[in-house]
Amino acid sequence: MSNRTFTMIKPDATQKNNTGAILQMINAAGFRIVAMKTTKLSAEKAGEFYAVHAARPFYAELVNFMSSGPITAAILEKENAVDDFRKLIGATNPAEAAEGTIRKLYASSIGENAIHGSDSNENAVIEGDFFFSKLEQF
Ligand code: CMP
Repeated sequence: MSNRTFTMIKPDATQKNNTGAILQMINAAGFRIVAMKTTKLSAEKAGEFYAVHAARPFYAELVNFMSSGPITAAILEKENAVDDFRKLIGATNPAEAAEGTIRKLYASSIGENAIHGSDSNENAVIEGDFFFSKLEQF
């Protein structure tokens, strides 16, 4: 059980002006925002963030998409944060996402799926540190 996770609202959701609605759902589900910034990833930075997927056939598409427009990165706090947040966002493929989840509501495809959530406590720390210095993590 962890009390923190990391999220990114992806370029598709930013472009559709869904950032506020998604943050509202995150807060309503009991997550506290402890660090947040809107920024744009270079292709190099997006490639670094998703380096774990470098061998996958969709890697180039993923890097291209994630550097195509602004994202909002945040560290979130709540009891059981990693697991509860993955339940809130729903399955990677929106066609398989449960009703009422963020991806069911706002994602359009497996690639353009609105939001990222860390898959483990260890990755939550690595991903949070990628965007925020220790001094920015309250
Ligand atoms: P996320 O969980 O943020 O991190 C890895 C991302 O790779 C995932 O979201 C998807 O957006 C993307 N991804 C996974 N599978 C595919 C796929 N088959 N085609 C395109 N993108 C994918």
